[in-house]
Amino acid sequence: MSLEYSKSLPYIDYQKLLLRNPEELQVLAECLQHHGMYYLKVPNEDRQMLQEVYSVSRHFFTNDLERKSSVIMTDEYPYGYENQSETLSKSMPNEHDDEGDDHDDEDVDNDVPDLKETFQVCLNHPNTLWPDCVPEMKAIFTSYYRRMEEICSEIMKVYAAILKEESETFTVAFHKHCSSLRTLYYPMVNHKVEADHVMASAHTDYGLITILAQDMIGGLQVEVAGNWCDVTPERDTFIINTGDLLQRWTGNVWVSPSHRVVCKDPKSARQSIAYFCNPSEDTVVSTLKQFQNNGVEYSSITAGEHIHEKYRASLNN
Ligand SMILES: [Fe+2]
Repeated sequence: MSLEYSKSLPYIDYQKLLLRNPEELQVLAECLQHHGMYYLKVPNEDRQMLQEVYSVSRHFFTNDLERKSSVIMTDEYPYGYENQSETLSKSMPNEHDDEGDDHDDEDVDNDVPDLKETFQVCLNHPNTLWPDCVPEMKAIFTSYYRRMEEICSEIMKVYAAILKEESETFTVAFHKHCSSLRTLYYPMVNHKVEADHVMASAHTDYGLITILAQDMIGGLQVEVAGNWCDVTPERDTFIINTGDLLQRWTGNVWVSPSHRVVCKDPKSARQSIAYFCNPSEDTVVSTLKQFQNNGVEYSSITAGEHIHEKYRASLNN
């Protein structure tokens, strides 16, 4: 079933999106309603930069804990380095709430920390921290972040076109966006865990969309009708995933899928690079008029409130 599901996710061509190719938009529109996740071919000109991000990330994570901790995540600075301080499934609601969310996942209420290390930056933060131990990281991450900003902006304009909304419907909320670039490292666990052990517990992404690059180790799974299905890595592709705020904006017409990462090979470390596209914190997210009266009632919330609430809930201390 897993392989079959992965094959049902479309491959979208970024150049065709830019040209508003009608067939491509149709495939994408159907995918957003039914899966909330698709493959996007990494544009040729971005492949080298992506490899550099992987490379400096690996360099950072192989440093000793003391050096990595020089940029540690704190209550005041929710970016930087963290190591097993999160359990992502704790960010998921436990019971039915006013959002019509009925997740009943086995990982919820599980206090076992995720088995991952991460380093994260938001370039709109006034004091972004960079590790001294990898001096080239700042320039490489900054270039990649700026490129992801551009791609997200284009994708959100495409989404507005699909919804027949004004082109700037979503991007008007990017004036001081709080998007973050997070590099993730799932260490080798050898004999400590079995294959399929949960490394990043079940969750939905918090913002608008996520642009995820994953290496070829595998382990990403998405929940479909109560079953976990592999999202098989494909070379030179991103996974574009819908987040909660976009689901809210569309009154649940577009879905923010629950996903997790499991260990596929205990003898291999896994890397992924996620760019979380989040609107400005003061953006009030209300269901678009065309989706009101669909039987789903969301209260208005600011992007900052939603994201911080989910983030705080995920922490283990
Ligand atoms: Fe995620």
